Amino acid sequence: MNIKRVHAVYFSPVGKTRLVVTALAGEIAHLLGVPLTGDDLTLPAAREDARIYEPDELVVFGTPTYAGRIPNKLLPAVKELFTDGTYAVALTTFGNRSFDDSLSELRSVLTENGFCVIAGAAIAAQHAFSETLAADRPDADDLARISAFAAAVCEKIKRGDDTPCSVRGRDPVGPYYTPRGLDGEPKVFLKAKPVTDKEKCRSCGLCAAGCPMGSISTQDYASVTGICIKCHACVKHCPVGAKYFDDEAFLSHKAMLERDYTRRAEPEFFI
Ligand SMILES: Cc1cc2nc3c(=O)[nH]c(=O)nc-3n(C[C@H](O)[C@H](O)[C@H](O)COP(=O)(O)O)c2cc1C
Ligand code: SF4
Ligand code: SF4
Repeated sequence: MNIKRVHAVYFSPVGKTRLVVTALAGEIAHLLGVPLTGDDLTLPAAREDARIYEPDELVVFGTPTYAGRIPNKLLPAVKELFTDGTYAVALTTFGNRSFDDSLSELRSVLTENGFCVIAGAAIAAQHAFSETLAADRPDADDLARISAFAAAVCEKIKRGDDTPCSVRGRDPVGPYYTPRGLDGEPKVFLKAKPVTDKEKCRSCGLCAAGCPMGSISTQDYASVTGICIKCHACVKHCPVGAKYFDDEAFLSHKAMLERDYTRRAEPEFFI
């Protein structure tokens, strides 16, 4: 297959998935000597439009792992990606615990949509919940391994090898991961939403503008009027640290992760 363009397509509330997808897609485009296009599906308006990809293009599609799967709010947008056997590289990021079934699920949904998924990768990146978990990831070693993987993908394309890749994870996927707390018991925080320190808030509106669910009121930035997926974009993007979660079950889960998942999770590549 003679690839004419590479698309970096991603859902990335906090930005780590964008960083990793752009690094991989950029390197592939460079090695193939073709243009690179970026397509950010994070904000609600960007997910409204359908996309059509040609058979002579390559899509690097990236999403974070949420509870061991891909974010379910992203699924409708994936179904609006139209393709005719377009080559794809499926990529998930994960916050040093595990990607569980997220890569397998992404590979399946892209395949159901007509993509030919020739390669996959799961890359550890700083956990959106935490300042300490995988704090410096992806690091230089991760980026070097991503570059080597890009070269392997290009070799596969140049050989004309369109064998769909196998990835680690259940297929069909299993249930969502059950978060546990410091006491080892399951913790439920589905209804948790960020709170706002009104003393600190400067009403800049960045949190509302960056919420992937469009759930923060533009009339009152402290008010979360819609669904919260706990992505932490508003927490990370607030310039004065005014947003935070105070839900006890959530905080216990976060503390458990920071206690139990300090070992280095390596990236995994499939081709
Ligand atoms: C709601 C939520 C659930 C998550 N679940 C997992 C998980 O099951 N396993 C894991 O290792 N990391 C998990 N993470 C961490 C993210 O996968 C990781 O921080 C990712 O890089 C975030 O991508 P982004 O920076 O592009 O938003 C979760 C993060 C969030 C916000
Ligand atoms: S309100 Fe919830 S969904 Fe919106 S940016 Fe904040 S954490 Fe993410
Ligand atoms: S980003 Fe922070 S300072 Fe800006 S409106 Fe939101 S809470 Fe207030």
